[in-house]
Amino acid sequence: MANSPRFWNLIARKYIAAPVANEEIYQSKLERTRRLLRPDWDMLEIGCGSGNTALAHAPFVKQITACDFSAAMLEHGRTRAANEGIDNVAFVQTSLAGIDVPPTYDAVLMLSVIHLIPDWASAVRKAAQLMRPGGVFISSTVTIDTMSPKMRAILTLVNVLPVLPTVARISRAALVAEIEANGLVVEENWQPEGHDSVFIIARKPA
Ligand SMILES: C[S@@+](CC[C@H](N)C(=O)[O-])C[C@H]1O[C@@H](n2cnc3c(N)ncnc32)[C@H](O)[C@@H]1O
Repeated sequence: MANSPRFWNLIARKYIAAPVANEEIYQSKLERTRRLLRPDWDMLEIGCGSGNTALAHAPFVKQITACDFSAAMLEHGRTRAANEGIDNVAFVQTSLAGIDVPPTYDAVLMLSVIHLIPDWASAVRKAAQLMRPGGVFISSTVTIDTMSPKMRAILTLVNVLPVLPTVARISRAALVAEIEANGLVVEENWQPEGHDSVFIIARKPA
């Protein structure tokens, strides 16, 4: 199955209910992001899923636009925001392709989403276009070098099964090169131990 709103709508409930794979690593990613944020910043999260990460960052920025093409995913974030009185996160149903440029943002997040987009290089390009000078791009991406042999075997299977979205075969070096080719400067390139993805922070020069 393609990486489609239909697929994510179907699995939204289970995806959201599943515990975070590694809470310590997740908290570290939140912290590494948070120390860059400024109270007057506008943030964009592309492929926000449950919205839990956007809601965690909400107290540290002025405003967050949290986008996802799955209505079922967004529903969870909207409900949580309403229940918790968080009023600076706007949940917007759109694909990456549907996001207009401008406006631009001080922080653009793409977490566990770049490898799901077949034309992942143009996704990185669009993210860079959506950034303001001085802003940061924060991403977490499964790459062929960082995935464990077990994950590689699973993905080989996943990529031939018509029921799951295909995972793009991106090398860590190719991802970094694409980020830099779009004028960003990589400030952090971290593979958490035992983790299948690489966490990259890059800045658009001011
Ligand atoms: C693996 S989940 C990650 C969700 C969240 N970022 C996280 O880290 O838990 C991927 C999310 O990206 C969304 N998504 C995938 N491709 C997208 C696209 N082209 N445009 C917008 N959303 C997309 C899916 O609907 C899904 O919610």
